Amino acid sequence: MFSTRTSWVRDENALSARAAEMKGDPELVDLTVSNPTIVGIERSQGLLSALSDRRALAYGPDPLGLAEARDAVAAYYARRNVHVDPARIVLTSTTSEAYAFLFQLLLERGAHVAAPTPSYPLFSFLADLAGVEIRHYELLRGERWTLDSSTLADAQAVIVVSPNNPTGSVLAPGERSEILAHARRSGASVIADEVFLDYLAEPKRFAATTFVKEQKSLTFTLSGLSKVAGLPQMKLSWIVVSGPDEDAGEALSRLTIIADTFLSVSTPVQLAAPAFLEDAEAFQDRLRARLAVNRRALPPNALTGDGGWYAIIPLDPDADDEAFALDLLERQRVLVHPGYFFDLIDPAIVVSLLPQERVFAATMRRMFGG
Ligand SMILES: Cc1ncc(COP(=O)(O)O)c(C=O)c1O
Repeated sequence: MFSTRTSWVRDENALSARAAEMKGDPELVDLTVSNPTIVGIERSQGLLSALSDRRALAYGPDPLGLAEARDAVAAYYARRNVHVDPARIVLTSTTSEAYAFLFQLLLERGAHVAAPTPSYPLFSFLADLAGVEIRHYELLRGERWTLDSSTLADAQAVIVVSPNNPTGSVLAPGERSEILAHARRSGASVIADEVFLDYLAEPKRFAATTFVKEQKSLTFTLSGLSKVAGLPQMKLSWIVVSGPDEDAGEALSRLTIIADTFLSVSTPVQLAAPAFLEDAEAFQDRLRARLAVNRRALPPNALTGDGGWYAIIPLDPDADDEAFALDLLERQRVLVHPGYFFDLIDPAIVVSLLPQERVFAATMRRMFGG
């Protein structure tokens, strides 16, 4: 009755079962939190009034997104000294939906898409749903995360996550050129996931790092309000299309039909996009200050890469990261992700840097002393 694409193994592991039992425990410290709306970051008064624009009473959809919302995304890039033509912007409800659109646009069933490992486990589900196959290329842990270019296999699309989740790493210029050259040789497009790009430890690197300026290969750069403005509940993301004019034009024309088939972005959020994206600047200042404080509270062996919302804490080489996480939950009521969740090879745990500073510092002291 059901498709094989959705025949996922759904057994709960011991850690998630125990975490579910302890949900609601006031003493539980959740260091897996990725939801920026529940970690006590102050929001501007009146922010929601942007949703009560009376123009939202009328429905006049544009498949790629309303002009003022796409202009607001272009203005967001302009504040970062990056020029983006609003005509090259496609709005989607989430970044996950953007991936789904791009897989439909670029990949035949059974085609290969290259994606980094370690990384966020979202891709395998998106690939299953699109009936395509992931070919992982490896990032190797060292003083910084480096690309193992010998693992780059042919694929029809190459995903780059910049900064990557959870390593926080950004490709070095040489590695980036290598990936782009490899993509060109195999006729692949590039999908650059930049949802965390505003959270580089050195925010000024945004303009030099973003893929929206990539002109040689057809490139799709993804981001959205979820991380940029800390508003995942608003459901507004975008794709910036760059590359050779002819390819970009064809991509936009086909994306128009894909987006028109769903018309998934609501009118109120599009009309509110200018206000939400302007407010994102104050939100990011607050969050960046918190991330910096929490990074300083980490044990000295923690890895934070170039930025992002997470840190990796290596364990002893013979440790079992799931057993460690389970023991931590039982004894100290602290929930962390074991590294294997992100396909980290060496034993490690992954902690979110979003929790309030006092809670985070006290938890680090409890876990690692000092
Ligand atoms: C690297 C990365 N890309 C995309 C997403 C999904 O973002 P959205 O909420 O816009 O679908 C996440 C969510 O955590 C993520 O970590």
